[in-house]
Amino acid sequence: MLDWSDRHCRFLHRLLTRRARLYTEMVTTGALLHGDVRRHLVFDAAEHPLALQLGGSEPAELAQCARLGQQWGYDEINLNCGCPSPRVQRGAFGACLMAEPQRVADCVRAMRAAVDIPVTVKHRIGLDQEQSYGFVRDFVGTVAEAGCTVFIVHARSAWLQGLSPKENRALPPLRYEVVQQLKRDFPALTLVLNGGLQTAQQMAEQLQHLDGVMIGRSAYHQPWDLSRWDEIFYAAAPFDSNRDAVEAAMVDYMEREALQEGTHWYAVARHLLGLRHGQSGARRWRQVWSDHRLKDLPPRHVWRLAQQALQPTHAPTASQPCLAI
Ligand SMILES: Cc1cc2nc3c(=O)[nH]c(=O)nc-3n(C[C@H](O)[C@H](O)[C@H](O)COP(=O)(O)O)c2cc1C
Repeated sequence: MLDWSDRHCRFLHRLLTRRARLYTEMVTTGALLHGDVRRHLVFDAAEHPLALQLGGSEPAELAQCARLGQQWGYDEINLNCGCPSPRVQRGAFGACLMAEPQRVADCVRAMRAAVDIPVTVKHRIGLDQEQSYGFVRDFVGTVAEAGCTVFIVHARSAWLQGLSPKENRALPPLRYEVVQQLKRDFPALTLVLNGGLQTAQQMAEQLQHLDGVMIGRSAYHQPWDLSRWDEIFYAAAPFDSNRDAVEAAMVDYMEREALQEGTHWYAVARHLLGLRHGQSGARRWRQVWSDHRLKDLPPRHVWRLAQQALQPTHAPTASQPCLAI
């Protein structure tokens, strides 16, 4: 997710689940071919398994970027055919590509010829007026002929006319039954459902019909939920750590990042803010980690303040007498 699932966010998520596959933000072919490759592609070895999501529509350029991704050690290349933003539309990629399945097939063919790792596609279930099941079925069928076997389907249409990207993640109705029908029509393909899933129970329900689920916003806002996934979905041992230890590990990471890459702790801490979702004192704790007035302090110091803010005695409440001497 653009501006959200950067490598710092992914490092946090990997502390919480060893097994779930992580995806980068979309990186455009233009950014990779004409920009700072290291800045876009560098990641921590701990992040595996990790997919690089590409945005683009020129087969040769995508092939070159897929090759770069493989050289940098990514485990999968994913092509974005679901992003509806005006900037992406001007570049004629993202969700626009759903109107050109043959081009997507050419892109997939070119990337597959360039790399040995899997090439996958993320897309929507429809585009503007194209709401029929046949439209998405033919899209998947055409792209599958090019050798793509994994489809991540955001179970909403993209409405390019008149909706902002944010509205495009909320207003077009979710239609899980369309993705389930795709699985029935293409049983040999791996179909991963995305969109609106929030709880492990909802994930488990969809996994009865589909091969996988992708979780976006709720994973970002409530990262602690991830700590149960390995046990629930991969029959792994229960998560043997706690939020304090995860926070401590992130403080170590902030210090290491500052030393090695010159990263300010603030760029890391912003992804941490949901970690204590639902815990008492979480709001005060979050306020500390997001207080820009503390930016000049070392992260370990801010951490101590955040820990203090968690203590029930930190703020007087109606149910506790406020004693002072
Ligand atoms: C801030 C933000 C940035 C996003 N960036 C991307 C992106 O770069 N690539 C992509 O495929 N989807 C992107 N998405 C869409 C999500 O991956 C996902 O498809 C969508 O939010 C629906 O899933 P959810 O309900 O689990 O969040 C983004 C979503 C958000 C909120």
